[in-house]
Amino acid sequence: MSEQSSESPSGVDADPAGLAERFAGLAERLAAHGQQHVLRFWDQLDAAGRDSLARQLAEVDLELLDQLVRGEDQSVDFGVLAARAEAPPSVRADGTGAEWSVAEARARGEESLRRGEVAVLIVAGGQGTRLGFDQPKGMFPVGPLSGRTLFQFFADRLKAVARRYGRTVPLYLMTSPATHEETLAYLQANDYLGLGRDDVHVFCQGTMPAVDRESGKLLLAERDSLALSPDGHGGTVAALQRSGALEAMRRRGIRQLFYAQVDNPLVPLADPELIGHHLMAGSEMTTQVVRKRFPMEKVGNVVLVDGRVQIIEYSDLPEQAAEMTDEAGNLKLWAGNIAVHVFELEFLARAADDPQRLPFHRATKKVPYVDERGQRVEPEEPNATKFERFIFDLLPSASHAFVVEGIPAEVFAPVKNADGAPTDTPAAAKGAIVDLHRRWLEQAGVNVAAGVQVEINSQLALDAGEVASAVAEGRLPAAGTTIESDQYFGG
Ligand code: UD1
Repeated sequence: MSEQSSESPSGVDADPAGLAERFAGLAERLAAHGQQHVLRFWDQLDAAGRDSLARQLAEVDLELLDQLVRGEDQSVDFGVLAARAEAPPSVRADGTGAEWSVAEARARGEESLRRGEVAVLIVAGGQGTRLGFDQPKGMFPVGPLSGRTLFQFFADRLKAVARRYGRTVPLYLMTSPATHEETLAYLQANDYLGLGRDDVHVFCQGTMPAVDRESGKLLLAERDSLALSPDGHGGTVAALQRSGALEAMRRRGIRQLFYAQVDNPLVPLADPELIGHHLMAGSEMTTQVVRKRFPMEKVGNVVLVDGRVQIIEYSDLPEQAAEMTDEAGNLKLWAGNIAVHVFELEFLARAADDPQRLPFHRATKKVPYVDERGQRVEPEEPNATKFERFIFDLLPSASHAFVVEGIPAEVFAPVKNADGAPTDTPAAAKGAIVDLHRRWLEQAGVNVAAGVQVEINSQLALDAGEVASAVAEGRLPAAGTTIESDQYFGG
């Protein structure tokens, strides 16, 4: 996070001459880009307000903003692109499609885990607006019986992986200005979730200013601050470099970075099979996908265009393209992005050295602002354009980018919408956790009575194989018995 420097003026009397000079410099720079209106209230601000506004403005790349407002970067016609799109090269859930076996992939992934070459990155900068949860989403209690939070779920799994392979898997957590302080406080209050203090690294992503959708003018959220929002998960690349995390990973000998979103409690963090497929394919960026259930499902579409793997976001995919089928009548563009990726660290490092590599996407949103009279306006219609980068836009520049199909019931149950919505709710995610754990028990010969809920902490058993061992060793109910009432099997 950018911290206040010791030179900050702290009161109205501090260094008025210096501030006047700063005003002149800022006014000139802003005027060159037609954005001087943001200094409209300068004379009414105290020194702290002036300082904070000046700092925000110093971070804004006005040249880039000009280009974005003029739309000079907007060259992609997704309709045309989608018409040429094909299914991507992939290994299917049944193991077909690759020149190596699933067992070989798993062994290769396990080797890299045993060597301590894997780190996990979770992006947790989103504000969870759709979920209606006013804390960082990672603090959402998702455990159906345990009430454990998403952050705890991830930590439980990482501790189990570390135990299994004898090496810790460091966790890198990307926050945004909206979630940073609260996430840090939560981690401190919860002893870094039992992961070693040196194995949890929290870094904050950057921001982009919102502009008026008609005029392209910067919006003020307050008289002394711009309307800023997180720069998208594509901001991960720059934030990794800026925060020193990239360098810290290198020093630690990390070579593969397992990337996931904070909203998915089923994500098999540091999954050896996925890492193994990535390594066997010699891929710089590998993506896990699930088969789409219906054409317009709200997941990104992983496709192959002109020999390059890329993702066309659901909002950009024309219906006609979404509905294309193959000879067997299955969806042609079948591969839905669940935002689980494996990166070669050096590929990310090269991307970080090339800031233009990721394009910006635009979203038209309602953004409250302060008008020319200094009155706060809560717009009723979308009034602003926000600019975001998406990390998956790195795919086309990756060599041997590869796609691995996962089974949705095992890997994907995102918490996005409040209960009551048709999909991606907490209730659905909790149900998916119970169903998966029930199946693991049943595969090990344990019966679970109808309607009974079960939840197994990853530290007790990480997958079906570990559940079977725990059953055999008496750490879970014996084969042949029936679980008659809801039960949480803790770590
Ligand atoms: C996202 C993907 C979509 C995929 C789906 C799977 C994008 C644009 N689309 O959709 O292709 O099928 O997930 O669940 O990502 N985040 C940040 N900083 C930001 C913005 C987002 O850290 O500036 C994080 C959020 O905390 C969240 C994740 O990125 O963990 C996804 O963001 P969200 O806006 O929820 O994406 P979706 O529209 O659900």
